Amino acid sequence: MSMYSYKTEPLTDFTSDANVKKYEDGIRTVYTYLGESYDLVIDGKRVKTDKTLNSINPSNHQEIVGTISQASIKEADLAMKAALEAFETWKKVDPKLRADVLFKSAAILRKRKFEFSALMTKEAGKPWPEADADVAEAIDFLEYYGRQMLDMLKIDDKILSRRNLERNEYKYIPLGVGVVIPPWNFPLAILVGMTSAAVVSGNTVILKPASTTQVIGYKFIEVLEEAGLPNGVVNFLPGKGSEIGEYLVKHPKTRFISFTGSKDVGVGIYEKAAKLQEGQIWLKRVIAEMGGKDAIVVDSDANLDLAAESIVKSAFGFSGQKCSACSRAIIVDDVYDQVLDKVVRLTRQIKVGNPEKQEHFMGPVNDHLAFKKITSYFEIGQKEGRLLIGAEANDEKGYFIQPTIFADLKPDSRLMQEEIFGPVLAICKAKDFEDALKIANNTEYGLTGAVISNNRMHLEQARQEFHVGNLYLNRKCTGAIVGYQPFGGFNLSGTDSKAGGPDYLSLHMQGKTISETL
Ligand code: NAD
Ligand code: ALA
Repeated sequence: MSMYSYKTEPLTDFTSDANVKKYEDGIRTVYTYLGESYDLVIDGKRVKTDKTLNSINPSNHQEIVGTISQASIKEADLAMKAALEAFETWKKVDPKLRADVLFKSAAILRKRKFEFSALMTKEAGKPWPEADADVAEAIDFLEYYGRQMLDMLKIDDKILSRRNLERNEYKYIPLGVGVVIPPWNFPLAILVGMTSAAVVSGNTVILKPASTTQVIGYKFIEVLEEAGLPNGVVNFLPGKGSEIGEYLVKHPKTRFISFTGSKDVGVGIYEKAAKLQEGQIWLKRVIAEMGGKDAIVVDSDANLDLAAESIVKSAFGFSGQKCSACSRAIIVDDVYDQVLDKVVRLTRQIKVGNPEKQEHFMGPVNDHLAFKKITSYFEIGQKEGRLLIGAEANDEKGYFIQPTIFADLKPDSRLMQEEIFGPVLAICKAKDFEDALKIANNTEYGLTGAVISNNRMHLEQARQEFHVGNLYLNRKCTGAIVGYQPFGGFNLSGTDSKAGGPDYLSLHMQGKTISETL
């Protein structure tokens, strides 16, 4: 199959009036189906259940985005049966054809780009550029993993060696049924990436979307259907994570679990998946990508404007609700006050409000639980440090929290240790660069990190010693691009699976050696 090489999907330029109109058209399209009902999809059939859940707009909790049937154990069993049956045929389908389903899905998403972005604005509270980047990343995953599958065929074809009358081959074969459990915060990109990697590798999937973004998940199922994915290959099973998610994690026929979400849920899944169940004849694979407590380190001879801009963009983009968000800024003593000043000045310019309006850099946080958790850190922050700005919130209409910064925190304080997953930035002073790196590594996580410095030796030291899966030098610590910055973390940030990287698909497969005597 001849293919042009992978290129990342361009981001939309919203200074163009034509693009602004396209986004507004997208919002109008979403209004045409606002409040509709959605079913489970098992073996290609729509399945209604007695229990439903309303997905609400976090900017306006009176607005229902959709009402979705919720699966119980009965439907989880049906989905497992469908996925097991479909695996028997899907695993034999030519990988080129499987890749083609991904390329077609990418093309459909491209056509419906503004609608999907607008739906994320409605259901997940994503501001325009963030939603646009989410769709672009979803397209990238499809294009990248499709090509990666084609590349793996070249490995398949390679005869390792011939010894006299012996022919040796090495092939990758799929694993079986995978349970895919994505988070809500990249409701399209991560869901698409995890699902498409599993499917293109020849596995079948039970997809359990995150509870607050189920309509987006359903809309992607429509894309896969239009792209020609056979029934039963991806079964859409919205429902409670702690009920059907857990049931499927423990199920003896589950071959692998692909999870992205919080540390506590991920650690629980890892533990439950490790226990052999009756009738289970394999060790389950677990891909688990989890939280972060990511830091930006500012050195004494850094470009301080770049430092402030990198901190503010990484801390408050999408209201800090990214695993990659900067939730700690560690600044060396000699430039501490100057950087604080610049960071506060930039933060003051941030507009918070309904993300349907283009001027709002920050929208709401995810739901009432997120609102409660994030605002509970206001009091903790006041006790542990010095409030520079923010600590204001309002949930009368939507879950809005102002960007909040606490300074003068101790490295071991709760604000410097716990993942808050909201627009709360903790700042800490370091004696020197050495001390700053030590503080940056003083965490159970290890996802992203950045260093802003003009000192070549310090940048090299960070390369060696800053223990994170994604290290950025002289830039923000969010916004990894598929194929360019493979993404995944160390320590309790996860299994370092590196989504969007060259090794990701092989995690969904097993190698088979065949040696024939001729
Ligand atoms: P979460 O852990 O609450 O939920 C993630 C998924 O797990 C959801 O689909 C949920 O329904 C499901 N789930 C919940 N309990 C379960 C259980 N007992 N068994 C099986 N499934 C269960 O996380 P979230 O709030 O959706 O997402 C935010 C978290 O995800 C943050 O910690 C963030 O850092 C992390 N995250 C990590 C990455 C990464 O690549 N490392 C990317 C995005 C988000
Ligand atoms: N991949 C996302 C980022 O890098 C989480 O920001």
